[in-house]
Amino acid sequence: MRAAMRLLIADKLHPRAVEELRTLPVDVIYEPELTKETLETSLHNVGILVVRSKEVTRKALESARQLNLIVRAGAETATIDVKAASERGIYVANCPGKNASAVAELVFGLIVSIDRRIPDAVASLRAGRWERTEYAKAEGVIGKTIGIAGLGAIGRDVACRAKTFGMHPIGWSRSLSPARAAELGIGHASSLEELAARSDVLTVHLGLNDRTRGIISKRIFEVMPKRGIFINCARPDLVDNDAMRDAIVTKGIRVGIDVVPNEPRGKKEITTDLYNLSTPSSTGGFLYGTPHIAASTDQAQLAIATETVRVIRSFLLEGT
Ligand code: MLT
Repeated sequence: MRAAMRLLIADKLHPRAVEELRTLPVDVIYEPELTKETLETSLHNVGILVVRSKEVTRKALESARQLNLIVRAGAETATIDVKAASERGIYVANCPGKNASAVAELVFGLIVSIDRRIPDAVASLRAGRWERTEYAKAEGVIGKTIGIAGLGAIGRDVACRAKTFGMHPIGWSRSLSPARAAELGIGHASSLEELAARSDVLTVHLGLNDRTRGIISKRIFEVMPKRGIFINCARPDLVDNDAMRDAIVTKGIRVGIDVVPNEPRGKKEITTDLYNLSTPSSTGGFLYGTPHIAASTDQAQLAIATETVRVIRSFLLEGT
């Protein structure tokens, strides 16, 4: 009898999906704590691989002779060497749009947290202080312009929610035409620089690729208004993080980030010093961070899990 195809889940996946995958004619191996290094030597007898943010490198794929399908339980495929996969005839799928609402919710959580300095206000109360005057200095967001770089599912969701907050959304991406912006009911900027210059709040929702790496550059922080808000719930490598640090210190830019370079895996120590910037600098700039949780609502993870199962089921049934 032929052994069942092995399906390796190498990242945390919603339990309902793991349960459903176990009902399929595959041998499910659930190892969410696998490191990137162990993954590189674990794929020789795997037919289907499910990952979330774990990197799938060319090296990992070199020994993956039986691998047919990689499903990324996330929005895009930047963490997978898609070129190496397609050279080997491995099909790569993802779950676009399924986490859009969850990410947009965190974007607004961060914007309001920054404007009201909610984390500091809570910490101050927790320390037994009643500093009402200190924390009664918010500007409010009604009438503010929010610039959205990238109008995929997440960017569009952010635009809709911005309107309900009374903000004016404007957008930019290489493919966004003025007509499409009008259709979405948002303003149009003809360059990223123009977008940044016009925005009280700038939020980035571009996919990461060779054209977008470092796109939020020193120049972009230079043209942003003083004490503007910058949000990155997308990818750390979209941003020149050194320029961002300078902008916080010298220009009072207030930043909310869900992602950092060299993200710690598991319980590993944080290596970045960006989180030390949570106290306002003399210019009023500061940074609040969250530990890559934008897509991690139960609702979003269930939607992603359902899509992951759908893709795998149809692959097994139809071979596509
Ligand atoms: C995504 O790309 O969809 C998320 O960053 C994945 C995750 O939350 O692990």
